[in-house]
Amino acid sequence: MEMLVVGEADIRQAVSMEEAISVVEDGFTSLADGQVNLPPVLSLEMPEIRGEIHVKGAHVTGAPSFAIKLAAGFYDNHLLGLPTGSGMMLVFSARTGFPEALLLDNAYLTELRTAAAGAIAAKYLAKKDLSVVGVVGAGAQGRYQIMALAKVRPFDKLVVYDLDEDRLASYVEEMPGIVGVDCEAAADVQQVVTESDLLVTATPSAKPYVQAQWLHPGLHITAMGADNPGKQELESEALARADLLVCDVKIQCFERGELHHGLEDGIIDEQSEVVELGELTAGRHPGRTDDSQITICDLTGVGVQDTVIASLAYQKALDAGFGSRLEM
Ligand SMILES: NC(=O)c1ccc[n+]([C@@H]2O[C@H](COP(=O)([O-])OP(=O)(O)OC[C@H]3O[C@@H](n4cnc5c(N)ncnc54)[C@H](O)[C@@H]3O)[C@@H](O)[C@H]2O)c1
Repeated sequence: MEMLVVGEADIRQAVSMEEAISVVEDGFTSLADGQVNLPPVLSLEMPEIRGEIHVKGAHVTGAPSFAIKLAAGFYDNHLLGLPTGSGMMLVFSARTGFPEALLLDNAYLTELRTAAAGAIAAKYLAKKDLSVVGVVGAGAQGRYQIMALAKVRPFDKLVVYDLDEDRLASYVEEMPGIVGVDCEAAADVQQVVTESDLLVTATPSAKPYVQAQWLHPGLHITAMGADNPGKQELESEALARADLLVCDVKIQCFERGELHHGLEDGIIDEQSEVVELGELTAGRHPGRTDDSQITICDLTGVGVQDTVIASLAYQKALDAGFGSRLEM
């Protein structure tokens, strides 16, 4: 029995952001159609070293393979000159359960599938004409979210804030060359929120830093940093200011996303109207219907995103003849 082992460089060459957006969109539709077997997230947290590992996976009914993904986030890695995220994905045969491929992607596929979800949210929830896009958190996702957004919606300018001045400065220097628009460093989060038509929050903050009173008509927020119960980026009251609340999957967001804090603080309850992203991609909910609405999308990262992107990467690697065969 053999398994294909594919390294990060080949995976980067094999899978594009456009393809990631397309398969992730289909994955959310399958989820909304009840076609996905989705187990709960296994999460190992090591607060004393600011580290965590998430294990996620899913099977889409009828798909020939499925994946289990391990993704680590170690938030002091930058002090060692390393990125925060690392990890790998394992692809299995859905007929025999035997492993078919080990994708040593160093979290690249997680970055893509997460950014793809943000772009899909923007497609259905952001105003048609975007001028300023704001980012809080000038790290990996602060970059990938914007690269994905640029594939679905044009915008004129980026405004960004980060607690770390060096990371902020490198972001401002790099991003114009990547997405072709000006990028300005903001003095604080309030400036980012008030100037933006679309805001991405991409930090591991344990304390909410986006105040409800700063939200303004027309704003769309994709809050994707909080993927554990201890993280929160938006004040819970911000959820009450939204005309439309969307999330990737309710059971997860009620346990580990912004919605979790909204529930705990009594701002929403389990009966509050929260639309899942798959309802939008399946065409069962229109998303934004008016330029003055405030919309919020809470993303915690769903196993179906990992399965569809890993299956895509496996297939593309096979087609391109990438990777090496390992005897098991
Ligand atoms: N929802 C998902 O599917 C998903 C997927 C991947 C990562 N994440 C989460 O997204 C978050 C960001 O991940 P990353 O890989 O981009 O991390 P990163 O370490 O590369 O970047 C995070 C940035 O946020 C900044 N920051 C931290 N607290 C801040 C604050 N209060 N205000 C302003 N800036 C602040 C840091 O200085 C850093 O530059 C993490 O919480 C991670 O777990 C979620």
